[in-house]
Amino acid sequence: MNAQPRRVEHQQTDKGNVPVYTTAVIEQPWASYAREDHATWAQLFERQQKVLVGRAAREFNENLHRFGMTPDAIPKFDDLNRVLRKTTGWELIGVEGLLPELTFFDHLANRRFPVTWWIRRPDQIDYISEPDLFHDLFGHVPLLLQPEFADYMQAYGAGGVKAHAIGADALVNLTRLYWYTVEFGLIKQNDGLRIYGSGIVSSKGESIHCLESTAPNRIGFDLMRIMRTRYRIDTYQKTYFVIDSYRQLMDATAPDFTPYYAQLAAQESIPAGTVLQSDFVYNRGTGEGWAKDGDI
Ligand code: PHE
Ligand code: CO
Repeated sequence: MNAQPRRVEHQQTDKGNVPVYTTAVIEQPWASYAREDHATWAQLFERQQKVLVGRAAREFNENLHRFGMTPDAIPKFDDLNRVLRKTTGWELIGVEGLLPELTFFDHLANRRFPVTWWIRRPDQIDYISEPDLFHDLFGHVPLLLQPEFADYMQAYGAGGVKAHAIGADALVNLTRLYWYTVEFGLIKQNDGLRIYGSGIVSSKGESIHCLESTAPNRIGFDLMRIMRTRYRIDTYQKTYFVIDSYRQLMDATAPDFTPYYAQLAAQESIPAGTVLQSDFVYNRGTGEGWAKDGDI
């Protein structure tokens, strides 16, 4: 029925080499992964599993095991879906890569999480600019078993559909929220700051940098502050925002954002690396726990 999916990543256009956006839902071509693809999965999985001990949020590490993900082979979406269906009701769908915003929001609003079916090449082990299977699956899927976080993702999708109708500026604000929570969020747990953002957990370098480096700011979660804050996609983050709990995310984002967008439209954006007087700044995330800067 379907032709064998091809990996379409970039296309040469008058804007240069740009990622291709296709909206098709693709059955995971599991049997066609090469030995090299499984080896890439194994290498990344083993490396991250080690680095994330004592760094990732407790639920992240636990859920990897609940899914039965192992380094042995690229997981089958069908197997993961059996677990998801009977816990939080999410479903993974295979896609070619990045989706147009509205398509993406619509999937999330219906508890469908799009996962890129292909995995990076061996020469891209340490860095790839687009999300691949490792980022999407290892990075995003474990927390879909966390009930509050699973609800947050769906609510975000519904909020995206709404922001899309309001306009481009609202979308910019909302996308920053996704970036600083779902992709690059930190959470304060009993034993210190921990990672829950998928962009971090799928990167060895950033997993260490975000908690241990003195370079970035670690700032307490503040919804409006986040929606004003610009971000960089080509370097480690200059600022991470720290939540107290997944419930905090749900509660803070429950109100109608329409008046928030109007308020934000009248405010300047904040550069990625700025610290404001009103920010609650944490020191490094491990070892000395989560005392405020200057308490060390
Ligand atoms: N409550 C938000 C709105 O009305 C939607 C939303 C939920 C946005 C969760 C982000 C996260 O627009
Ligand atoms: Co992602």
